[in-house]
Amino acid sequence: MSLSLPPLSLYIHIPWCIRKCPYCDFNSHQANNNIPESEYVDALRFDLEQDSTLAQGRKLTSIFFGGGTPSMLSENAIAQIIKNAERIVGFESDIEITLEANPGTFEQKKFSGFLAGGVNRLSIGIQSFNDTQLKLLGRVHGRNEALRAVDVARNAGFNNINLDLMHGLPQQSVEDAKADLVQAISLAPEHVSWYQLTIEKNTEFYSAPPILPVEDTLADIQDEGQALLAQAGYEQYEISAYAKNKKRARHNINYWEFGDYLGIGAGAHGKITQPEFSRITRLWKTRLPKHYLDAGSSNKISANLGGHQNVFGGGSEILSAESLPLEFLMNILRLNEGAPAKYLNERTGLQLTALEPEWDELERKSLVEIKEGNLRPTEFGRRFLNRVLEVYAVS
Ligand SMILES: C[S@@+](CC[C@H](N)C(=O)[O-])C[C@H]1O[C@@H](n2cnc3c(N)ncnc32)[C@H](O)[C@@H]1O
Ligand code: SF4
Repeated sequence: MSLSLPPLSLYIHIPWCIRKCPYCDFNSHQANNNIPESEYVDALRFDLEQDSTLAQGRKLTSIFFGGGTPSMLSENAIAQIIKNAERIVGFESDIEITLEANPGTFEQKKFSGFLAGGVNRLSIGIQSFNDTQLKLLGRVHGRNEALRAVDVARNAGFNNINLDLMHGLPQQSVEDAKADLVQAISLAPEHVSWYQLTIEKNTEFYSAPPILPVEDTLADIQDEGQALLAQAGYEQYEISAYAKNKKRARHNINYWEFGDYLGIGAGAHGKITQPEFSRITRLWKTRLPKHYLDAGSSNKISANLGGHQNVFGGGSEILSAESLPLEFLMNILRLNEGAPAKYLNERTGLQLTALEPEWDELERKSLVEIKEGNLRPTEFGRRFLNRVLEVYAVS
């Protein structure tokens, strides 16, 4: 294996929300107004200090505060976490720092403080601008708060804003879904993430399923929505991601290009390449906030990873050579442009021949191609990504 070190990102998980949404299976817990903020900031610092050897000299190219609801933390807490990350690992000069914010009035008051603390990209969880749909989704905000959140973010000085929207919502018509997009487009965000609602296990929607649009309606929403976004200058570059003027989400692109990332916070995942040991490791932190905080305040050592101590384990797993084709392809084939073929060798240690004979067969079926030096899905292949990936599944 001849691995190189890819760019390094940092994911920071904030595991609390005002209320748990009925469709959400993220590691988020109702906070009941008592977030142990300063303990959590300390635990995150300790966590990153433990993980810092895994940076292997690299500085961070991006940070993503995800949740849960990171905007529930105070401006000072976010600024402190960013300062700690800069001190412990270091920043590339053009670092992208994204924070997921919910559109509540309480959160909006903090937007300018988040910007002052170093956040330079805001991702606002709008989901829909339709009050009926927002209610059915169990959201705590309404249409007016959503509209105002974008306005407040702009006035605060954010020049890189993402709006998260979902479609295929309970009782949603094609016209409803398009109205959400038209509204989003009129607010001129740099980026739109447009996800089809999925019903996940361990959610309220799973045990009491809502009435969802039928297949034909879902397909029409997808086609007509994509056309709307394209007409408005939003280029689709990934399954659910659309950017204007190439303002793509650099943090997510690093995941999809099989880059490295540290993950700190309750339940956070990381992926790290260690050329010195010829290996790629996935590691994760203990999931429940209480356990995480306990680990953060003790000196318990629970795992040892080539000299690196994972106090917050969780656990870790070295990726086997057999699993690497699927691990690599399930990321890069999400991108319309795929990724440079040379990344296969640099970032997995594999030669192109390791993808054969399956790749040739998929090429013959016009599902994938090598174009301008990139391994990529065809337009046809993008619609059948699961079929493409299943041929690489390791039994
Ligand atoms: C980590 S989540 C939540 C961020 C923020 N707390 C919020 O709810 O706005 C990121 C995004 O994933 C999307 N999402 C969450 N659950 C989903 C589901 N079951 N199906 C499709 N998209 C989902 C939502 O658009 C959400 O904004
Ligand atoms: S969708 Fe967002 S706000 Fe709702 S529970 Fe999940 S993380 Fe929290």
